[in-house]
Amino acid sequence: MGFCVKVGLLFVTVVCFSTHAAKLPSTFGRCSPKDEEFNECLKKNVEDAIHQLKKESPELGLSTLDPLDIPKLVIGEGTGPVHVVQNFKNVKLYGLTGSIVLSTSIDFENHIMHARSITPELRLQGEYTMRGKVMLLPIYGDGLCNITLYNTKINHTLYAEPFQKKGKTHWNFSNYTVTLRPDKMTYKFDNLFSGDERLGSNILNVLNENWNEVFTDVRDGYEKSFGLIFHGLANRVFSRVALNDIFLDME
Ligand SMILES: *[C@@H]1O[C@H](CO)[C@@H](O)[C@H](O)[C@H]1NC(C)=O
Ligand SMILES: *[C@@H]1O[C@H](CO)[C@@H](O)[C@H](O)[C@H]1NC(C)=O
Ligand SMILES: *[C@@H]1O[C@H](CO)[C@@H](O)[C@H](O)[C@H]1NC(C)=O
Ligand SMILES: *[C@@H]1O[C@H](CO)[C@@H](O)[C@H](O)[C@H]1NC(C)=O
Repeated sequence: MGFCVKVGLLFVTVVCFSTHAAKLPSTFGRCSPKDEEFNECLKKNVEDAIHQLKKESPELGLSTLDPLDIPKLVIGEGTGPVHVVQNFKNVKLYGLTGSIVLSTSIDFENHIMHARSITPELRLQGEYTMRGKVMLLPIYGDGLCNITLYNTKINHTLYAEPFQKKGKTHWNFSNYTVTLRPDKMTYKFDNLFSGDERLGSNILNVLNENWNEVFTDVRDGYEKSFGLIFHGLANRVFSRVALNDIFLDME
């Protein structure tokens, strides 16, 4: 039982409100904050859970994490070399379930979570449109794209506010900030310049040779978008599952 609403911001997400409390799947491990090895335990279990979420988990309100469907994504202009808004739709994000969790910690008193992870290969595939300038060169086109980020280190910071539902404490994340540092990126945009192959491959070479400068200029847009995506996923799980079913020994 439950109901769903569509909320649109940068992208459209369907948020479902379950009318009964869900449990974590029995294959997910649980850790006790009283355990000295809590952070180690959590790191392992979070990574395990992410790997398991390659399969959809209706009880947690999640479809598969890999690929993750992103109906709409907008990466704004930078303040440096990137004078173009990148509009994406019908994007599939591949690779999240390959993530390795490097560390986690939770400050239960202040309800703050930190995690660091690395994702070997993250690929955004979908449709793009853009018209503007990059590194002083005109660029325009619409078609399919394939953007790959390699060995992306991600720092996650989540602030929660506790609330009561059916007599049980849940966490609602009020914000989720992300910083992203890929080791390398490759861009592929099909049908640039109305299909002019020579102009298209020239500008792709420029983008790929200068990927770091290009990414750094619009990194903020990627970080905000990934933050919103992760925020939505985290709140789906924590709004359904009570804190004392996620962690052991909670009073
Ligand atoms: C996307 O690009 C990556 C890196 O260039 C490549 O490995 C992958 O095969 C491409 N995928 C598609 C569907 O074009
Ligand atoms: C994550 O935080 C650590 C410690 O503050 C810092 O050294 C590292 O550069 C950060 N990484 C990213 C991807 O922001
Ligand atoms: C959870 O936090 C969001 C802000 O991210 C807020 O809009 C929402 O009303 C909160 N929900 C609950 C149940 O507190
Ligand atoms: C996140 O939310 C917490 C409280 O819910 C607040 O103290 C903090 O300033 C917020 N941080 C950001 C970056 O919005």
